[in-house]
Amino acid sequence: MQENFSLKPYNTFGVDAKARYFAEVTTIDELRDVLNFSKMQTLPLLFLGGGSNILLTKDFEGLAIQLNLKGISEEFLNENEVLVTAKAGENWHEFVMHCLNKNFGGLENLSLIPGNVGTSPMQNIGAYGTEIKDIFVSCTVLNLENLELEIFNLEQCRFGYRDSFFKQEGKGKYVILGVSFRLTTGNHNIKTEYGAIKTELENMGIENPTIQDVSKAVIAIRKSKLPDPKETGNAGSFFKNPSIPLSQFQELQQKFDNIQGYRNENLVKVPAGWLIEQCGWKGKQIVNVGSHKLQSLVIVNATGEASGKEIFDFSTAIIRSVEEKFGILLEREVNIL
Ligand code: EPU
Repeated sequence: MQENFSLKPYNTFGVDAKARYFAEVTTIDELRDVLNFSKMQTLPLLFLGGGSNILLTKDFEGLAIQLNLKGISEEFLNENEVLVTAKAGENWHEFVMHCLNKNFGGLENLSLIPGNVGTSPMQNIGAYGTEIKDIFVSCTVLNLENLELEIFNLEQCRFGYRDSFFKQEGKGKYVILGVSFRLTTGNHNIKTEYGAIKTELENMGIENPTIQDVSKAVIAIRKSKLPDPKETGNAGSFFKNPSIPLSQFQELQQKFDNIQGYRNENLVKVPAGWLIEQCGWKGKQIVNVGSHKLQSLVIVNATGEASGKEIFDFSTAIIRSVEEKFGILLEREVNIL
């Protein structure tokens, strides 16, 4: 347990906010010990995984816990399927690579997503046509009320677009300790329908891609337009892509003939990156904070010196301009603290 601890290395924005207390735990018993300490002191809690989806706008007057539980196990279910379980502290991308090395399919489209396994269900991470709900079986959680272990299945997690039970009713009540996925050992379901993957595979000269090829294509696409948090602080997409009523979309089409949208029944999902770019934010920097030059949905700590408050204010300015120009209210995807 450490006091007045800088969380700068523990959030991918690289914001220098302090936690009143900080503890790193590697076992469930250690976790229970620090939780008992926090209960005695009635401290608020902050669980850190890879720190890839939080923005610390001020110092945290509580106990920040870095979950470092490690381990990956597998259980073959039948000829074609394996159940792979990873503990919360496993790095997501290393876990994906581990599975690909064993030729287990299902995670390849989710290559190179920053963060840890334990936080993947929180916002149902997704990219290039896959979300974790597609391969998720269950997760083991610790109930913070009674410190008992519980298992949540797919239905109980209530996954939605960048959303889950743990972000809604379950918020602050559980900590995820491990996640199990159902993966394929052969006859893999190769998903290349997401346009950019097809183009990338063509560029690579690959006609019948393996899961490893799909992963390579995804990595190439991500590297070509998303900033590496190790070099430039960021938390991936800062906002969700908004869904608007079809009637509103049709009205906008009258004014903006190149507006893009993906229809889902009576709603249309509009790419927030496009809306933000249209408002002139792409590549724009104000003091320490900017919108990424290749993908305006990503806000970056451009100088490495940005405070969380500066990043938050920058995001508010983006929300205002998009609302003014398009009448669409963007919702932040990143958790604000
Ligand atoms: N676009 C622009 N200008 C921009 C950015 C995007 O016009 O500055 C347009 C693109 O041309 C494209 C469309 O917007 O037609 C969608 O862009 P892209 O394919 O880059 O995907 P996205 O909707 O911006 C989402 C996820 C990403 C994920 C990609 C690929 C959200 C909030 N973001 O981004 O997830 O990697 O799709 O599947 O859904 C993340 O959540 O942190 C994240 C990076």
